[in-house]
Amino acid sequence: MEQELKKLKEDFERDLAEAKSGTELETLKVKYLGRNSRLAELFSQIPALSGDQRSFWGRRLNQVKKDLAAAWEKATGSTDGQQESLDVTFPSSAVNSGSRHIISSTSQKICLIFQKLGFDIVEGNEIEDEQHNFEALNIPLEHPSRDAFDTFYLNLAEKNNGKYLLRSHTSPSQIRVMQKNKPPLAVISPGRVYRPDVVDATHSFMFHQIEGFAVDTEINFSQLKGVLLCFAREFFSQDVNLRFRPHFFPFTEPSAEVDVSCIICKGQGSKTKTQGKRCSVCKGKGWLEILGCGMIHPKVLEACAIDSKKYRGFAFGMGVERIAMLKYGIDDIRLFYENDLRFLEQFSL
Ligand code: PHE
Repeated sequence: MEQELKKLKEDFERDLAEAKSGTELETLKVKYLGRNSRLAELFSQIPALSGDQRSFWGRRLNQVKKDLAAAWEKATGSTDGQQESLDVTFPSSAVNSGSRHIISSTSQKICLIFQKLGFDIVEGNEIEDEQHNFEALNIPLEHPSRDAFDTFYLNLAEKNNGKYLLRSHTSPSQIRVMQKNKPPLAVISPGRVYRPDVVDATHSFMFHQIEGFAVDTEINFSQLKGVLLCFAREFFSQDVNLRFRPHFFPFTEPSAEVDVSCIICKGQGSKTKTQGKRCSVCKGKGWLEILGCGMIHPKVLEACAIDSKKYRGFAFGMGVERIAMLKYGIDDIRLFYENDLRFLEQFSL
């Protein structure tokens, strides 16, 4: 047994000398003084010994146990001492607190401009039903956007308002607001929208839109133009112009697509200052498409129990990713979603 004890002490001393951290010391204590230690095993052999032997080895083992415990205490004391020698006034390493994502900050910037013009911000629902996403917006059953190729339908039991789906645009927010509130209304509604598009440099199955609309007795198309021009100049730069091209949307009549004069070549297209070189952002056209808009279709107002003889409204919808790509010269939509900090940190405030 003496042999055994000698070996035990040597092992303990070697391990103790090698232990560097508090955790390692704790492990050592369990190993050498715990219930399953070799020492405990030796203690368990004592009852089997004869009288004299029993008291001799009892005392001997207790002494060893005390010695090990004392050496262990001493060692922990010394590491405690080291911890206390830490200089708590030393400057800490910088903590990265993060910042808003470029899509959130762009969306906020856009909303703030409209808020200053008197628009209220209202969030809609990402899970919609066919009634709000299509029917109330005068989108008939045969319209291609209602096809399963263009819409994420959900496997939820359908109710009176038809199948559930991930909204394909923010326009259903118009319906939700107009069903609940009566004019005068001026509302801006940001959020995510979903379309089962194949992902490439300009498409994503999920992206962000901002819907805006105003309803009152005297609303007209020139107010829509004025509001959008004010937004474009505030957001891009004071010298941009807008171009309204006739278009078709089922929920607005008349409808238009709106282009902003290219912010890079200042609308010059191919006649840039750099000797007739074609502008790569607008591909030489001088204009960049930024949104869709129009006067709210009377059927849409009626679907929300608003008298279309008395009231009229304008509405517009824009894609946040597209606007951010134009403003910051980003050429691939996938960069927004890859969480690559080298990209994102360029836009943190
Ligand atoms: N909802 C249309 C889209 O997603 C945009 C739009 C909104 C057009 C409001 C006109 C009026 O393409």
